[in-house]
Amino acid sequence: MTTTRKIIVVKDGPTLAEAAAQRMIVAIERSAAQIAAICLTGGSTPKRLYELLASTPWRNRIQWNRVHWFFGDDRFVPQDDPLSNIGMARRAFLDACAPAANVHMIRTHAATPEEAARLYEQDLRTFAGLRGDGPLFDLVLLGVGPDGHTASLFPGFPAASETKLWVAGVPLANVAPFVPRVSLTLPCLALTSEMLFLAAGHDKRAILDRVFAGENLPAARAHATSGETVWLIDEAAVPQKTNDNSAHAG
Ligand code: 6PG
Repeated sequence: MTTTRKIIVVKDGPTLAEAAAQRMIVAIERSAAQIAAICLTGGSTPKRLYELLASTPWRNRIQWNRVHWFFGDDRFVPQDDPLSNIGMARRAFLDACAPAANVHMIRTHAATPEEAARLYEQDLRTFAGLRGDGPLFDLVLLGVGPDGHTASLFPGFPAASETKLWVAGVPLANVAPFVPRVSLTLPCLALTSEMLFLAAGHDKRAILDRVFAGENLPAARAHATSGETVWLIDEAAVPQKTNDNSAHAG
């Protein structure tokens, strides 16, 4: 399993969104499967990217009918709740651009996060059967939280050490918003041709320092099993020292 990561530094937030959109479009075009599969992340960082995807010229560069959209995690709240990752992505671009049948949502109206996780795992495994050989996803977007979590896999929490299940219920969050979550696990997130972390702003500097130094954190352990693991960060987020010798200017 590749454990190296590629670090790409770009100027600022808007440039990061454009670079991420470009990588996503390449991943979709590169997909060997008839249907491409993108796994979206939550949080605030990707919002600018999602809004960009719905704008010209980016919107016209995506073959929306052949792309399926999944979510790496969500807060266990209704989609009209401002905390909902799915709600944010739907409002930013999915409702305007993607066929509804291509958007695979985590059922946050299920009785419990665990039930929602079991249902989503069924969806993922059914889709994996349709995809045939090759990785489940063409691109997995991820972010990193101040404690080194990614998706809703919090350091020291059971879901972060799950090795078999693809989706886990997370009854308690380690950082705000302190609501239950549903999260894909590291083994599932790894099933991708490209894992693309997005981090922007000065407040990411401290956690990136810890991740790039190899601290045992979920965001540091997350890697594409047979693809590329890329950290796309802006200049404000660059740690003082970056242990990875693979840093590249974007
Ligand atoms: C979530 C996200 C989470 C997020 C990080 C970074 O549900 O909150 O999946 O993993 O990516 O917390 O969030 P920001 O982009 O807001 O910094």
